[in-house]
Amino acid sequence: MIRKFLNLGYQPLANSYLHKKKINKKEKKFKLEIVFNDKNFLVSINKKIPTKEMFNSSYPYRSSLSNTMMKSFKKISNTIKKRFNPEFIIEIGSNDGAFLYNFNKKKIIGIEPCKNVAAVTKKKNYKTITEYWTKKLAKYITKSNQSDLIYSANTLSHIEDLNETFDAINIALSKNGVLILEGPALLPCIKNNIYDQFYCEHIYVFSTIALSKVLKNFNLEIFDLNILNTHGGSARYFIKKKDNKKYKINKKVKQEITKERKFGLHKFSTYQSFSKRVEASKSRLINILKKLKKENKTIIGYGATAKSCTVLNYCKIDNNLIKYFLDTTPDKINKYLPGSKIKIIKYKKLSKKNVDIVFLGAWNFKKEILRKEHKFIKEGGKFLIHVPNVKLI
Ligand code: TYD
Repeated sequence: MIRKFLNLGYQPLANSYLHKKKINKKEKKFKLEIVFNDKNFLVSINKKIPTKEMFNSSYPYRSSLSNTMMKSFKKISNTIKKRFNPEFIIEIGSNDGAFLYNFNKKKIIGIEPCKNVAAVTKKKNYKTITEYWTKKLAKYITKSNQSDLIYSANTLSHIEDLNETFDAINIALSKNGVLILEGPALLPCIKNNIYDQFYCEHIYVFSTIALSKVLKNFNLEIFDLNILNTHGGSARYFIKKKDNKKYKINKKVKQEITKERKFGLHKFSTYQSFSKRVEASKSRLINILKKLKKENKTIIGYGATAKSCTVLNYCKIDNNLIKYFLDTTPDKINKYLPGSKIKIIKYKKLSKKNVDIVFLGAWNFKKEILRKEHKFIKEGGKFLIHVPNVKLI
């Protein structure tokens, strides 16, 4: 049975940043509700948006803009080379190449349906196919040679049709090949009240217990995993075909499953308590912002993330409370956040002279950003962070 546990209200498409001339036009919105499937423990959003509406030639996200992500991709690339020494790698969702560039051009192929980001890797002569990941595509690119390593980071949670995805992976992956999937993990998300991990693009946030169940249907299994700090807590799964005897199942897999069950990720009541904590977080965030505004503080946002879109629209925060957002992404600058219509301005170093409080939309890069803005903090500037609990730091 599929059971709803959180209503995040009416939300626009999180990555459809608005041009000035469009801010008075009515935006497409959908009711964002989060559901739990008690058969396979999958947590997902209830309304799936057609992929083409989200991943097209104006997709703004760039993975290579963050040092944290660049370092993370470099590290996993070195591990891949040492541990698996693959001959032919496929990356599903190669974005602007942050992972691809760590490998020899002849050994890797990127799949990236968003033409604008794919153009970046094509320009650097990395073979990139601008299509969605399907069985047809898998057959086409592996007709003479299957891949011995498929990698995909922060992409699987965006794809609605898991049957098509894993069938295609089974076609493309060699008998002894390895599939590595990486993305936001459900345990830290629920534990730390990270409700903004849910938006139109994040159809699923996977747990180990849910992913194991899904993989079973495709004769695939997790044989190892890494728990990562990226994106507020992620997991990297090493997956193989069931009849691949080359790799033993690491005890970490069972340990993680035990941890998740202990926390209650298999029980609906866990999600109901999460939902209550999220409602409390919303009230606290609104109250703090209103109080600061009353004290005449200048409040801005930092990192116009898709996650911010969920927070701003759920808490009904607009430019009365947050004056503008700073961001480094070229495609977002001088546009407006969807729904809340708060303007995004080209990043420049924070100064206490014109800003008092900074709402950290990109809280997942807290360490990197706080380090970068140490002068502002020293001058008495404060960051407002809403996860795990709303507080000023
Ligand atoms: P991200 O957290 O990856 O995204 P999402 O919720 O959209 O999936 O996006 C980070 C955003 O923060 C991105 O728009 C770039 C911006 N950013 C800065 O402006 N400055 C920074 O120092 C960092 C690390 C990110």
